[in-house]
Amino acid sequence: MDTEHAIPALRARIVDWRARGQRIALVPTMGNLHAGHLSLVEAAQARAERVVVSIFVNPMQFNDKQDFASYPRTLEDDRRKLEDIPVDLLFLPEQAALYPRGLESSTRVTVPGLSDILCGAFRPGHFAGVTTVVCMLLNIVQPDLAVFGEKDFQQLLLIRRMAHDLHLPVEIVGMPTRREEDGLAMSSRNHYLTPEERRRAPALFQMLSRARETILQHSGACDFRDLEADAMERLRDRGLRPEYFSVRRAADLALAGPEDKDLVVLAAAWLGSARLIDNVRVQG
Ligand code: PAF
Repeated sequence: MDTEHAIPALRARIVDWRARGQRIALVPTMGNLHAGHLSLVEAAQARAERVVVSIFVNPMQFNDKQDFASYPRTLEDDRRKLEDIPVDLLFLPEQAALYPRGLESSTRVTVPGLSDILCGAFRPGHFAGVTTVVCMLLNIVQPDLAVFGEKDFQQLLLIRRMAHDLHLPVEIVGMPTRREEDGLAMSSRNHYLTPEERRRAPALFQMLSRARETILQHSGACDFRDLEADAMERLRDRGLRPEYFSVRRAADLALAGPEDKDLVVLAAAWLGSARLIDNVRVQG
């Protein structure tokens, strides 16, 4: 597996692959790779002849400096995992190459509305950081497709919206959440859990699954706001500190009502120093 740090060198490779008529996929990551990331890479390999994985811990999407400083950086381990698959190219851009004028003075890409609800309401500026860096990576690599996980459902929707609104010639592919045996969604942030917190953590997925069952049992004719309040209470009883638990329309994340049939239930909750997010689709 080759590695590139510089944008011109990466572009030279892309030009070469394009000249050979090869299809190119990008899997953007922040590293600390787990089986969830590797399933995104496998999905990319199934759809393209060349796969680029980027690792960049993007400072613009961290609303908390301490969170950025302590985000797990495990490059050598990540490299070994990618070599085993193997991918064609690992792209490791430097911060100065992506933000040459510094974070504050850089151009930003924002998706109004969708960026400010749910996770965006609790992490101001986070999604502008995500859409800005993903837009840059798409422009640098110019892939035919880019693959993201559905665990970050709001992020995936925002990236789709951005690609559509900016007429970016790229297919955005979403892949199902990979889970541990007890249901906990795989995430780099799970490392922050103590053994005791790790035992409690599946409660988030259990509450989401319970909400899905309730909605399906009532064919959608239940009070979603009551259901959300009940789930928040149950999460608190299990020692989690929920930020939100919300039944939304899957297409645009608007608050769902009984007439909506394609739903997603999304939740975020703190457990110790880990912020966990997860979601389940409900198609009634
Ligand atoms: O989901 C992530 O790991 C990040 O938000 C992403 C998409 C790589 C952008 O930094």
